[in-house]
Amino acid sequence: MLNQSLLPRCREVWFSWCRENKQSPTKMSSSSSLSYAAAISRPPSSPSLSSTSLLPSAFRSHFSNSISHTNRFLKFGVKCSYADVGVKDTNSFTIDVEANIKAEKLVVLGGSGFVGTAICKAAASRGIEVISLSRSGRPSNLGSWEDQVSWITGDVFYVNWDEVLPGATAVISTIGGFGSEEQMQRINGEANITAVNAAKEYGIPKFVLISVHDYNLPSFLLTSGYFTGKRKAESEVLSKYPASGVVLRPGFIYGKRKVGDFEIPLDLVGEPVEKLLDATSSFTKPLSALPGSDLIFASPVSVDDVAQAAINAVKDDDCFGVFTINQIKEAAAGVKV
Ligand SMILES: NC(=O)c1ccc[n+]([C@@H]2O[C@H](COP(=O)([O-])OP(=O)(O)OC[C@H]3O[C@@H](n4cnc5c(N)ncnc54)[C@H](OP(=O)(O)O)[C@@H]3O)[C@@H](O)[C@H]2O)c1
Repeated sequence: MLNQSLLPRCREVWFSWCRENKQSPTKMSSSSSLSYAAAISRPPSSPSLSSTSLLPSAFRSHFSNSISHTNRFLKFGVKCSYADVGVKDTNSFTIDVEANIKAEKLVVLGGSGFVGTAICKAAASRGIEVISLSRSGRPSNLGSWEDQVSWITGDVFYVNWDEVLPGATAVISTIGGFGSEEQMQRINGEANITAVNAAKEYGIPKFVLISVHDYNLPSFLLTSGYFTGKRKAESEVLSKYPASGVVLRPGFIYGKRKVGDFEIPLDLVGEPVEKLLDATSSFTKPLSALPGSDLIFASPVSVDDVAQAAINAVKDDDCFGVFTINQIKEAAAGVKV
C-alpha cells in the first residue's frame, strides 16, 4: 500500500544518493515527465520508517533502462534497502514519486564528418546517448570517446529508420556537400528533407539543421544547388518543426579536419581571422550593406562552437528558429538568443 508520508523521506534519500554520486537532483527537475519508483524496505519490527533507517550508507540503487521509444523521458527505479544485515526483505513496497529527469538520445546524421564528429564528441562528453548515421560509418582514430557513440552505416535515402530513430529525442543533420548541380540539390536539399520527414513521422520532438550563411550575396548569386538545396531543407525544418526546429547558418567553419590519416589544421587560418574580424567589426559593420561583403567580413566560427551551439539547442526546449553566425557563437557560450 502506498504510504504518502514516505514520499519526503524517499526524496531525501534520492538527494543524498545524488550527492554521493555527484549527480544533480536539481537538473533533474527541469522537465516533467519522468518518474522514479522507490522501493523501501523496512525491518519487520519497525512499524514505520525511522529517520536512521535510510542513511546514505544503507542506500543501494539501481536504474532500470529506458522504457519508451516515443517519449523523450527516461523512467528508472531507485531501490532503497534497510541496512541491517540478516533482515529479511519481506515488507518491501513501492512508492511512485515524480522526479524530473530528461534523458537525451541524439541522432547525428553525418556524425562521421568534420562538424558531425565535433557534435558527437560534445554530446558524448555531456552524457548524451549518441547515434551517428553516415554511409562510411565509424571513422578511425577519433579518440577514446568514439566508443560512446553508436556508429551506424547507412544512407539517409535508403536507411531503415527503425534502426536509427526510435527513442531519439533530437536529430541533428550535418548532411551537405558540393558536386554537380544535381548532386548539390540532392545532398543539401532532398537528403535533409527526407530526414526531416522521417524524424517527424517518428515523433522526434527536435530537429537541428546545419545550414550555411548566405554571405550577403544577391539572390541571383544564390541559385546554385548548394544554396537552393540548403534553403529548401531549412523551409522543411521550419515548417515541420515551427516551435522547435533550429537552423544554424555558419560561415567558414575552422578546426582540425581529418582527411584519411591526415589532419588539416584549418584553425591556423580560421582562428586568427575570426579574432581579427571580431575585433574590427565596429569598423567593418557599415560595409555589411554591400552585396557579397560577407565573403570577406563574415566571421569564421570554430567547429567546437558550432557543436556546442547545436547541443545547447537540443537541450533547450525554448530554442528554435534561424541562427546567424553571431547567434551561433552566443548559443555556444550558453547565452539565450
Ligand atoms: N565546413 C564548413 O566550413 C561549412 C561551412 C558552412 C556550412 N557547412 C555545412 O555544415 C555541414 C557539415 O559540414 P562538414 O564540413 O562537416 O561536411 P562533411 O565533413 O562532408 O560531413 C558531411 C557528413 O554527411 C554524411 N553524408 C553525406 N551524404 C550522406 C547520406 N546520403 N546519408 C548519410 N550520411 C551522409 C557524410 O558521411 P558519408 O559521406 O560517409 O556518408 C559526412 O559524415 C554541411 O551541411 C555543410 O554544408 C560547412
